Amino acid sequence: MIAVMGASGHTGRAIAHRLLDEGEPVRAIGRSADRLDDLRRRGADLAIGDVADTTFLAGALGGVAATYALLPTDRTAPDYVERQHREGESIAAAIRRSGVRHVVALSALGTDRTSGTGLILGLRAQELRLLRLDDTSLMILRPVSFFENFLDAIDVIRRHGIVADGVSPDLPLPMIAASDIADVAAHALRTRAWTGVEVKELLGPRDMTWRQATHLIGMATGHPDLPYVQLPATDLIDALVADGLSRGFAEQYAEMTAAFNAGLVQPANGRTPANTTPTTFDAFVSAIGSVYHG
Ligand SMILES: NC(=O)c1ccc[n+]([C@@H]2O[C@H](COP(=O)([O-])OP(=O)(O)OC[C@H]3O[C@@H](n4cnc5c(N)ncnc54)[C@H](OP(=O)(O)O)[C@@H]3O)[C@@H](O)[C@H]2O)c1
Repeated sequence: MIAVMGASGHTGRAIAHRLLDEGEPVRAIGRSADRLDDLRRRGADLAIGDVADTTFLAGALGGVAATYALLPTDRTAPDYVERQHREGESIAAAIRRSGVRHVVALSALGTDRTSGTGLILGLRAQELRLLRLDDTSLMILRPVSFFENFLDAIDVIRRHGIVADGVSPDLPLPMIAASDIADVAAHALRTRAWTGVEVKELLGPRDMTWRQATHLIGMATGHPDLPYVQLPATDLIDALVADGLSRGFAEQYAEMTAAFNAGLVQPANGRTPANTTPTTFDAFVSAIGSVYHG
């Protein structure tokens, strides 16, 4: 049995389906049985609860050979950092209590930095918690920016006719499909062919700028001249808050984009065949076109 946290999310759902495809028994963890119904119908065991509840999570991890460990991002929590700290502590405690021997944890590039990286600092803290576990083989996955983040742009395109963020328009960034992360994670969880600590940077097929991504999204949504607008930090924070996200989250997000712009988030040894993954943005963008027009 393999446990998957965040099994209704971008990476977790794809991981759970990959494992079921391979005939692996899966325990899908999340807060809503409805959102996990596709997995239940395929035979997955469901564990419904909050990862901040250590007793629940340790029970959900009981007897599993491996788990995918995902630190949730509650974008509306007013006490964003504190909430994530509680969830991270609980996840580490539950893994320790249940004695799971193989853990694949989703993190991010930039966790080598000790300050100034906003949201990435929460993932750094989680890496450090998991690294303190004894007798656990830990694989840390470090992507940069998911293609799926652009799904949030659809509403902004509809309402304002732009794509906006804090990242410099012409800054090349490694962007990746969540499904590529899932492939790596599912393979590791199934084979468990590593011991100790392994770190894998995952950079997608190529670096891409927000201006390039916006152009491709514009073509797919029928707005060939769709502009990308770089917002200053204060405007970015206000826009995110106006969209219902907490100020605590928005500030962390803005600090992360500033870190990208300052070149603070870099792969250890540049792009290599080992950290390059196959799914292209073109493949994703046709899906975004369908969502926009659907
Ligand atoms: N987006 C990026 O560009 C990027 C880049 C690098 C790293 N990351 C990291 O990737 C992670 C997010 O991964 P993702 O995109 O695959 O997930 P996601 O789509 O954001 O979904 C989050 C998942 O976690 C579950 N969840 C949320 N809060 C929970 C809680 N308190 N207890 C139990 N389950 C909970 C959600 O299910 P329910 O709501 O149904 O409970 C859902 O399945 C974050 O740690 C983020 O920092 C993201």
